[in-house]
Amino acid sequence: MSRPAWPLVPAPFPRARLRRTRLQKWTRDLVAEHALRSADLIWPIFVIEGNGKRQPIKTMPGVEGVDRLSIDVAIDEVAKAAELGIPLVALFPVVPTETKTDDGREAVNPENLVCRAVRAIKRALPEVGILCDVALDPFTTHGHDGLVIDGEIVNDETVAVLVKQALVQVEAGCDVTAPSDMMDGRIGAIRQAFDAARHPNAMIMSYAAKYSSAFYGPFRDALGSGGDLGKYGKSTYQMDPANTDEALREVAADLAEGADMVMVKPGMPYLDVLRRVKDAFAVPTFAYHVSGEYAMIKAAGQAGYLDADRAMLEALIGFKRAGADGILTYAAVEIAKRLKAG
Ligand code: PBG
Repeated sequence: MSRPAWPLVPAPFPRARLRRTRLQKWTRDLVAEHALRSADLIWPIFVIEGNGKRQPIKTMPGVEGVDRLSIDVAIDEVAKAAELGIPLVALFPVVPTETKTDDGREAVNPENLVCRAVRAIKRALPEVGILCDVALDPFTTHGHDGLVIDGEIVNDETVAVLVKQALVQVEAGCDVTAPSDMMDGRIGAIRQAFDAARHPNAMIMSYAAKYSSAFYGPFRDALGSGGDLGKYGKSTYQMDPANTDEALREVAADLAEGADMVMVKPGMPYLDVLRRVKDAFAVPTFAYHVSGEYAMIKAAGQAGYLDADRAMLEALIGFKRAGADGILTYAAVEIAKRLKAG
């Protein structure tokens, strides 16, 4: 963290009264150290098959809760988000159960749901950025991010498939590839494949420090991907919540392998990790305010336990304070509306 070059000697009371600059809204705004802008927000959306469809997600409630959207509806919603100044949307496909397999082979089908969504949104709204996850969990029957052989989530075989998945997504028009699988070496393999296929400008935002977290619950409900993860869940590849030095090693590896931007995930319980990553590497750093964090605030608001709108803004400014350049949040659109309203 940068510190002033002189020693901090606070003037004593009553010469110093820290409340002076808090007394009016304009002075509070004037001395604010951090600001949240709609340009800092990345909006994750869930895409389903069909036309004119919108399905609420029970575990992600709210007046403006999160819905699964068919591609045509998603185009309209993304247009509104872009109008509000949101630069980037993240697409997650809700793959029909009958299309899921053990090996998740639908992930590499250039005509799969997410590739069709990318092409349709790019055609309608060429100026909007599109981010796609790279991981097999939406496509596998067991819900793991990688291939499972004899009960083990195998690394190198998985990376080979992820490379193909990343390529079909980029060829569909995805701007930012975001590997969320936590296999070792996947960033380097994807970067090499992009260069070989002449996509030198394809951006990679790695889920670099992604923890094995209970806060992904509503996301797995939204995708129907939580089914059969076994006794240890994803803890043989996602990080142990007890670690932070290891997060720095993950980030260092992903940057060396060719990531343009890195992410820490989940958000609020990991603000210390976010701060350490930003201070250590000084690269574009993002936080994912994940589904469970969103759901907690919304559910508490619905129960009348707190003011969910204020709590959401407070959570998001917390990410900026901790060093995030931007935030992935399901609340992106409602927050952008509130920021615009002032
Ligand atoms: C898939 C993926 C997950 C999330 C983003 N990409 C879930 C998981 O790893 O099980 C979580 C997002 C959220 O909870 O909002 N690899």
